[in-house]
Amino acid sequence: MTNEVLIFDTTLRDGEQALPASLSVGQKIRIARQLALLKVDVIEAGFPISSPGDFISVETIAREIQGPIICGLARAVEKDILACAKAVKPAKRPRIHTFLGTSTIHREKKLRRSQDECLTMIAQSVKLARSKCPDVQFSAEDAGRTERDFLCRVVEIAIKNGARTVNIPDTVGYTTPEIFASIIDDIMNRVPNVDKAVIAVHCHNDLGLATSNSITAVKHGARQVECTINGIGERAGNAALEEVVMIMKVRRDYLAVTCGVDTTEIMRTSKLVRDVCAMPVQANKAVVGSNAFAHSSGIHQDGVLKFKSTYEIMTPQSIGLKDNKMNLTSRSGSHMVRSRLESLGYREKDIDIETFHPKFKTLADKKGTVYDDDLVALMESDTIEEIADTYKLEYLNVTGGMGVIPTATVRIVSEGKAREEAASGDGVVDATTKAIDRVVGFKIEVKDYHLDAISEGREALGRVKIVAVSPEGTFTGIGTSTDIVEASAKAYMDVVNKICRMRKYAPKLRGKRAKPSL
Ligand code: KIV
Ligand code: ZN
Repeated sequence: MTNEVLIFDTTLRDGEQALPASLSVGQKIRIARQLALLKVDVIEAGFPISSPGDFISVETIAREIQGPIICGLARAVEKDILACAKAVKPAKRPRIHTFLGTSTIHREKKLRRSQDECLTMIAQSVKLARSKCPDVQFSAEDAGRTERDFLCRVVEIAIKNGARTVNIPDTVGYTTPEIFASIIDDIMNRVPNVDKAVIAVHCHNDLGLATSNSITAVKHGARQVECTINGIGERAGNAALEEVVMIMKVRRDYLAVTCGVDTTEIMRTSKLVRDVCAMPVQANKAVVGSNAFAHSSGIHQDGVLKFKSTYEIMTPQSIGLKDNKMNLTSRSGSHMVRSRLESLGYREKDIDIETFHPKFKTLADKKGTVYDDDLVALMESDTIEEIADTYKLEYLNVTGGMGVIPTATVRIVSEGKAREEAASGDGVVDATTKAIDRVVGFKIEVKDYHLDAISEGREALGRVKIVAVSPEGTFTGIGTSTDIVEASAKAYMDVVNKICRMRKYAPKLRGKRAKPSL
């Protein structure tokens, strides 16, 4: 048996199914291009019979994307298979993926077919697909809950009629690693023609076991894993590609398999799918979450500074990140703080860490996370109070709606004096930032604006993150509120205050620091 595991990406089919709105052809092409750069073996581009839009997407991807096999999904019925054959035809390496529910529940409640009728449908559909395309995959939908003897017969019939790949999906995420291992063992040992096809797995994550089940199946002989970027897919999603692939890479000692994915493209692909699909990635998501390479505890930071592998099992570079992230909080020790100051350009002789570290801790207790510009400000000031914000937003009133010119009025306090300004703009957020610009007397170029709901329901808290550029450098501002305009105003004010701090301390820094690198 080969030790090469094929990676079948179904982000554009199973993943897309779970989105509130379908992706456009253009959006699908963008993702497919990136999947080709990631070097997946198969792209499942869609379900051609399901809508004219999906047909066009699959056909366009088949025509334009080079490298991977381009696959389309079809139920085990003639019209689906013919539509799929037509859609994947332009591909250099097309594949038809046909499927039928095989468990008792699916047979009796959904299909209303006997076991024998299902076997006939499988034989006929795989044969038809093979007459249209040399590469055919059959999936026994809900295999995880299918009677073992029957499942073995299904696999045998599919292979006998020309399926090159037979997929064993855990459609409802019901199986567990040990049980799934015994299903794969049974197929490997009891299906007489199993050596004529690749056995694939497709696991859903309803109980959080999709990756474990997929990897266990590989250990027991499966040689194609179906997965999606960021694990998006029906309900709780599918096995996450980045997890499956990195397990194979990091635990080669245990699995002894390889795959052709270029792991350094993982982060880029994850971000693209996150943005195009508007599906946020949780901070602690394995491999691609924003905390996946962030160290917070003082003990961990100290360990990583001394020797990375103390707390890192894979390098950030291996998934395409520049470096790990050390969050400076009250838990950060003096070793970490000194190291960050040095990376900001301070020379050893400028750092009196014995006196600086307690000051840093007091600030961290107040602020939570201490950013680089806070650190610079603290180095350059005598007291923590000195680094307080220059401007404070005290009042915000906006008017907007259909047929109304969006306007905003702000009152901002600085050094005990309040000043009010109003402005109109292209939307209420734009009007608000213009009014703030008038008060502070300078303009900021916003490069990126990102809004996330960080709790649920109508009263959800919105968190706005703004990345802005000024002659002093690039700054990130964060603002949180149940009102998204207020959250935006707070994020903008955060940037304003960071710029003011930088202006205040930059002259003192000259000559002391090598470069302002905030
Ligand atoms: O979950 C599933 O069973 C599927 C099949 C169509 C492979 O998505
Ligand atoms: Zn699925």
